[in-house]
Amino acid sequence: MPQKEFRVGMIGYGFMGRAHTNAYKQVGQFFPSGYKVVLKAACARDAAKGKAFADQWGYESVETDWRKLVGRADIDAVDICTPNNLHKEIALAAAAAGKMILCEKPLAMTTAEGREMVAAVEKAGVPNMVWYNYRRIPAVTLAKRIVDEGRLGKVFHYRAKFLQDWTIKADLPQGGQGLWRLDVAAAGSGVSGDLLAHCIDTAIWLNGRMETVCGMTETFVKERPHQLTGKVEPVGIDDACTFMGRFANGSLANFESTRYARGHKALYTFEINGENMSLFWDLHDLHRLQVFDYKEEGKTRGWKSVHVTDNSPDHPYMAKWWVPGLAIGYDASFTHQVADFLQGLETGQPAGPTFRDALETQAVLDAVLDSAKSGKWVNVAKT
Ligand SMILES: NC(=O)c1ccc[n+]([C@@H]2O[C@H](COP(=O)([O-])OP(=O)(O)OC[C@H]3O[C@@H](n4cnc5c(N)ncnc54)[C@H](O)[C@@H]3O)[C@@H](O)[C@H]2O)c1
Repeated sequence: MPQKEFRVGMIGYGFMGRAHTNAYKQVGQFFPSGYKVVLKAACARDAAKGKAFADQWGYESVETDWRKLVGRADIDAVDICTPNNLHKEIALAAAAAGKMILCEKPLAMTTAEGREMVAAVEKAGVPNMVWYNYRRIPAVTLAKRIVDEGRLGKVFHYRAKFLQDWTIKADLPQGGQGLWRLDVAAAGSGVSGDLLAHCIDTAIWLNGRMETVCGMTETFVKERPHQLTGKVEPVGIDDACTFMGRFANGSLANFESTRYARGHKALYTFEINGENMSLFWDLHDLHRLQVFDYKEEGKTRGWKSVHVTDNSPDHPYMAKWWVPGLAIGYDASFTHQVADFLQGLETGQPAGPTFRDALETQAVLDAVLDSAKSGKWVNVAKT
């Protein structure tokens, strides 16, 4: 089949720059399509570091100014892998230049910014997507299929948590390379935008719109030196954030996220309790979906652990990989996301979450932070 080129311009070469590039390199082998991904250009402010990244990962060229990359005629899609404070500016420029945009999460720093981004991509008519990659872990996608089949019955509860422990040290600086997540000017928020954003995206996808929330945040370490200036500055991010809420379907939400849960590195879990069935998933055991089916009567009724590695169409994505029973990893969620994006281009059915989809998560985040400030319940703005 003749293939059309999908020429990527990658902005940022850190954790996500590598995760996405790995996905672009794998997608054609495991999920062949009418598109051939070409790693056209990588952008880094430091030319030497950019060149090292491009050489290692196979980009054809390097830019040191993202504006130049966005303006290049030989780039079809701009991939935004920078800290959150640059998402909007780059996305607006890329949309104006008519580029497809794949933007890291959270979409924006605020709902207001997110609205501008949605308006820009919709006005320009450019395909767009936000990298909420957990949707495409096969066990999570399977949960979505089970929910969509209506097998849970009425849903009563949705609970999720995302726990880490890497910022407990009081002398850890904030800001700059590797530590921008602690600097509110670069991150916009703390664990809410960084971690809870994932939990909220999955929750909305599986359980529908969230209507109202009541949140609480804490900043345990109040001041940290800024890595770039050396100046001790107040810490503006939330170190921990918990909230409860109510979904439009009447179920209750219970969410927790922190970087102060000693011993936990990336413990993302969610559980849904329905009238007929409960589902539980744990990132540390990402291939398993725990299922309790009340309809299974008799002595062996109980929680079962489904190892989502079959190569029948029942287990999403897995038929494209190895043989049944063999696991794939975290990285594959990004490969699946690119595969779905390219398929969306071919079929005209855009893969989600689009910018518009991701705006809903942003609205929940804003409502949670507003509630934490006011101490009151807050309705989630309609998007
Ligand atoms: N989907 C996920 O699971 C996931 C995981 C981690 C991070 N993220 C998101 O990805 C984005 C990047 O996070 P990360 O962990 O890769 O961060 P990182 O610090 O590892 O990388 C950020 C990159 O952006 C570059 N950068 C910063 N300012 C720039 C500029 N003006 N021009 C060009 N490049 C610039 C930095 O040099 C660095 O290469 C964030 O929005 C974050 O929230 C998503």
